[in-house]
This record gives sequence, C-alpha cells and structure tokens, in this order.
Amino acid sequence: MKRLVSGIKPTGQLTLGNYIGALRQFVKLQDELEDTEMFIFIADLHAITTPQDKTKLRKNIRSITALYIACGLDPNRVHLFIQSEIPAHAMLGYVMESTAYIGEMERMTQFKDKKGKQTEGIRTSLLTYPALMAADILLYDADIVPIGDDQKQHLELTRNLALRFNHTYGDTFVVPDGFYPKAGARIKSLQDPTRKMDKSHDNPKSYILLLDDLKAVSNKIKSAVTDSEGKIYYDPVNKPGISNLLTIYAALSDKTIKDVESAYKDANYQTFKNDLSEIVVRTLEPIQARYEKLIKDDLLDRVLDEGRAHAERIANRKISKVYQRLGLGRKR
Ligand code: TYM
Repeated sequence: MKRLVSGIKPTGQLTLGNYIGALRQFVKLQDELEDTEMFIFIADLHAITTPQDKTKLRKNIRSITALYIACGLDPNRVHLFIQSEIPAHAMLGYVMESTAYIGEMERMTQFKDKKGKQTEGIRTSLLTYPALMAADILLYDADIVPIGDDQKQHLELTRNLALRFNHTYGDTFVVPDGFYPKAGARIKSLQDPTRKMDKSHDNPKSYILLLDDLKAVSNKIKSAVTDSEGKIYYDPVNKPGISNLLTIYAALSDKTIKDVESAYKDANYQTFKNDLSEIVVRTLEPIQARYEKLIKDDLLDRVLDEGRAHAERIANRKISKVYQRLGLGRKR
C-alpha cells in the first residue's frame, strides 16, 4: 500500500491558489488512486513561524478542517488531523534540523522572500521550517506529496534529507515524489500576474478566497489585470494576466489550456472573463454551502480525533525507529 501526505498552513483564509494547487488535487487523487492511504493535515506548527493571533489561529484550524471536507475529501477515505496534536512531528522536525545544513536552509527562496519583507523579529523557525516539513512527510513514509510549485524546493530538500539520513544510519525513510497539477501549480495574483496569488497581499482584489462573497468573486475576475492586445492565447511571459486566467479556467473545467485557447480564439476579454467568473462561482457555491453546514457540526471533532488516533500510531512507531537508529536514549 502506498502513502500520500500533504498539508496546508492555517494562516488566514484559503485562496483559489490553494484550491487549484492543492485541495482540488487531493480530492482528485482520493478518487483516482487505489491502494493509497491518504494523510492530510493542518500544519498549525508551521503557522507560528510568523506571529499569529491565537483566537484566529484556532478558528482557521477549524475552518480548514471544514473546507477539506466541503471541497470533497471523504473522512472515511482520508485521515485528517492536526499536526500539533501528534508530537512526533516536532520530534522528527528536530532530527531533520540535525540532518540539514544551515546553508541549505538559507538557500530556500521562500525563506529569502519572507525574510526580505521583514527586518526585525524574524523567528528562527522561519529558517528551520523546511526541516519540519520534511519531518511531516518522512514520518509517514509518503510516496507521493501533492503540492503547488512554491513547495517544490522544500520537497527537493526533503528528498535530500531522506537520502542523507538513509546513507548515514541505514535505510529508514521512503524518498517521496512531488505531484503537481497539470495546470495551476502556480496561480498568480489577479492584480499583479507576475506574482503568486497569496492572501498576504495588501489588495484583496488580487486574490480570491474560497469563502469570499460570490458577487465579490465575480467582480474580482472582471477587474483582473490583462493587456491591451485583445487576443486570448497562452503566453505567460508577454501576457501573464490572460495566461493566468486561462490556467484558472483550464484547471476548474478539467480542460487543457490549448482547448480553452481554441474555444476563445475569436472572443473578447469581456466574454472570456464573464464565462470564467461563472465557472469560478459555480465551483465555489456548493463548497460554501457545504462549509456553512460543516462548520457548526460536531463531525469535525470526530473526524480529527479518528485521524489523530490513526496517524499517531504510525508516527510513534517511526520516531521510535529513528531514535534507535540515532542511538538516542536506551536500546530497546
Ligand atoms: P501553504 O499553506 O502555503 O499552501 C498550501 C498548498 O497550496 C499551494 N499553493 C498554491 N498552489 C498554486 N498556486 C498558488 N498561488 C498557491 N498558493 C499556495 C501550496 O503549494 C501548498 O501545496 N509548507 C506548506 C505546508 C506543509 C506541507 C507539509 C505540504 C507543511 N508540511 C508537508 C506538504 C507536505 C505550506 O506552507 O503550504
């Protein structure tokens, strides 16, 4: 039996980028893959690499749990759990810090970007965070890790750490593969399509939240930045705005970018944007309806309890094995 592992950080609300790059893939893989055990978690320890309001953090954790299910994850098929509720994540995270080199951590582009935006009070964990992410994956011997493009470098690091540990201490970890969506591994901002869509951007028009008011969603698509050429085709260098919208369209309608291009080759931007906003609204509407019911339901706690119980058994076995390999504590 193979294993799949992935997680989302509960900092703020989830965006359409998270949905296309990650959540939608989780659901597809759940429906397509046989003989694969799935572990999907809420990466709350990762959230505290930057300051968080504790009330909001708790709310976001619950909200992501509800969204996982609202987007189509079946709790009978997937183990859903909260990272911090399984201490082995932090334990293996420390072992991974003791496997990784500082130079490797400092080369991570996400760290460099985030550090660049902040001058004071940068937390040590912002630097060491990829070691914890490696632990999240290696703890479960994951074969496959569905993620967006921005996590690719962290996955490469995970593979290197697994290989290094195996080489030094003997075969211990499965070396995982990343899995990226065909279209939409990096959804861009609607206002500055050279940057990633991210809820931390100042202008709310630049991102779509899964729980955004649907009228606002429509308006955000209609006011997305394009160009003055008036022709619809995919060219991310010269036409990043239109190319991003084509990508969103293709991802949400399960078509190829080529198919969407040819369907709209004689259309104008307005028609295209109208159709796209309809597709996005049609995608979000049922998710929001299910979310509203789930968020009030005790089911969420039951699902998280079951997910934790199962994941914890596997994680504890693994961390014991790792400690033994390292010579920590006493021999068992
Ligand atoms: P996070 O919480 O920033 O993002 C969650 C997932 O959403 C993807 N994503 C995007 N995909 C396409 N376009 C975008 N604009 C976009 N924005 C975000 C991310 O690539 C990611 O797959 N470190 C991770 C969470 C994590 C994790 C793990 C993931 C912790 N441990 C172990 C996999 C396995 C993170 O911060 O993702």
